[in-house]
Amino acid sequence: MIYPKKIIDKAIHFLKFEQEIYGTFSVEGLQHNDTQLEHNQPEVLDTTDIIKQLKKFNTLNELEAFCKTSDLLKTDLEEANLVMGAGNPKADLMLIGEAPGKQEDLQGEPFVGRSGQLLNKILKAINFEREDIYIANILKYRPPDNRDPLPDERLKSLPFLLKQIEIINPKLILCLGRISAQTLLDNKESMKNMRGKFHPFMGKYELMVTYHPAALLRNPNFKKDAWADVQLLRKRYDELGCKP
Ligand code: URA
Repeated sequence: MIYPKKIIDKAIHFLKFEQEIYGTFSVEGLQHNDTQLEHNQPEVLDTTDIIKQLKKFNTLNELEAFCKTSDLLKTDLEEANLVMGAGNPKADLMLIGEAPGKQEDLQGEPFVGRSGQLLNKILKAINFEREDIYIANILKYRPPDNRDPLPDERLKSLPFLLKQIEIINPKLILCLGRISAQTLLDNKESMKNMRGKFHPFMGKYELMVTYHPAALLRNPNFKKDAWADVQLLRKRYDELGCKP
């Protein structure tokens, strides 16, 4: 059965919201004419060559120069700007969001829009300034219409982000939202299963997952859990003797 696009858009909006808590699920038999979901399957992608090329970079400046030349990082939004990351390049705490939005694309910096304002408040509440930490995203370019990053976009961007993490070498990583967490932990778990604890990551980092600030703006009921998560994170930061 074919449904009008308006209904499908509403259903997608609702499902995205539910996915924030319960993880990904599908509705069989639902058809639409939206191309976004039609190519939402990862290609078989061999990242060996790109990983080999990334090996030779030791600084964020070198990595950024390389990112500027790489079409692999681009979404299908033309004329978008690279949003590499911002903050202290030697930070012990690195935050990883999903993808730049309109404001981030315009200003070339992650989390400067509405979500960013809430993120600043959360950071302040646990005694961090933005300059103390480093913030990046899974994608370095804005996806069109603020849609979720597609699986193949996440896959192509991941080696660049892993290199960025390696250069910054934080002790702690905080994933903001399901997409960030599922991409880095390489799973399809729900937020409920991933948040609130530390996951070992890349053999040397501790990774915590919490709700994306946009999810907190949509559903204030998540704030209690997010508050517990960031307090735990701050405690671990201090225990490990981390410094800005
Ligand atoms: N949401 C994200 O995930 N990242 C940004 O940079 C802004 C909004």
